Amino acid sequence: MNFGLQGKVALITGGAGGIGSAAARMFAQQGVAVALFDRDGEGAEHVASGLRGEGASALGGAMDVRDFDAFALAVERTEREFDGIDFVVSVAGGGTRQTLSTLSIDDWHAVVDLNLTGPFNAIKSAAPALRRRGGGAIVTVGSLAGLRMSMNNGVSYTAAKAGVLGLTRHAAYELGRDNIRVNAVLPGPVLTPQMKAKISAETLERVPRELPLGRWVQPEEVAAPILFFCSAMSNACTGTHVIIDSGLHVGATGPRDEYDRTRDRT
Ligand SMILES: NC(=O)c1ccc[n+]([C@@H]2O[C@H](COP(=O)([O-])OP(=O)(O)OC[C@H]3O[C@@H](n4cnc5c(N)ncnc54)[C@H](O)[C@@H]3O)[C@@H](O)[C@H]2O)c1
Repeated sequence: MNFGLQGKVALITGGAGGIGSAAARMFAQQGVAVALFDRDGEGAEHVASGLRGEGASALGGAMDVRDFDAFALAVERTEREFDGIDFVVSVAGGGTRQTLSTLSIDDWHAVVDLNLTGPFNAIKSAAPALRRRGGGAIVTVGSLAGLRMSMNNGVSYTAAKAGVLGLTRHAAYELGRDNIRVNAVLPGPVLTPQMKAKISAETLERVPRELPLGRWVQPEEVAAPILFFCSAMSNACTGTHVIIDSGLHVGATGPRDEYDRTRDRT
């Protein structure tokens, strides 16, 4: 598939992780220069050097998305090395498993800072660079949890991911006249290598049974709508989102085999 992105430049946070590295790979395959930043700077550089080995333009570096000044430096470096920025993809995120009673105030701030202040820093620090380019696209990575609730992470994650949707809408309004579109992708259960390493064999096998499509989402299937939101194919879309969840959001509960058994399917 050709997204028509050849020669563009994308700054991606969380570039060492499952979805961030899949997005980087897909952008690079489309001829986009990628700047990958991650708290795990070595991991980001590892992904970038792999892409350079395949002929792509890529750089990797360490950056904490919670730190606005560090973000501004990452934007500066990307502009300097690649002559501008067209796309910003805010992927870095994650949560903790505490409940309301066990979550400390510090943990609350840590999760909200990562998942909500991070994308805010991305938008605020990169918008001037996109403006200098005459426009561009920003994609935030939220979660289906932002519309419902997280079963894997705590209340701080659910609240922060809900906030990402408000941030995306409001920024879309303010930046629309600068020809900068801001949209969100909301993944459901994505089987990244990191996810596979941390879940039990029982979870690996149970989750697909609960999904209409009967399978986990692959990281590349989140990357594709990210590229869609950066391409001319979505030129009239801003302030909106797409859910990529194997159908989890339809809200079905109960065993699938019983549903099928008790219905006439002819
Ligand atoms: N995997 C899923 O099932 C799933 C579902 C819904 C939403 N998401 C969202 O997708 C995004 C990516 O998830 P993933 O599955 O690729 O996770 P991942 O853990 O593989 O990658 C996340 C990356 O973010 C980086 N990171 C963490 N804190 C950071 C910080 N302060 N500054 C910079 N980088 C930081 C990590 O080092 C890691 O490389 C996250 O926002 C996550 O909430 C994932």
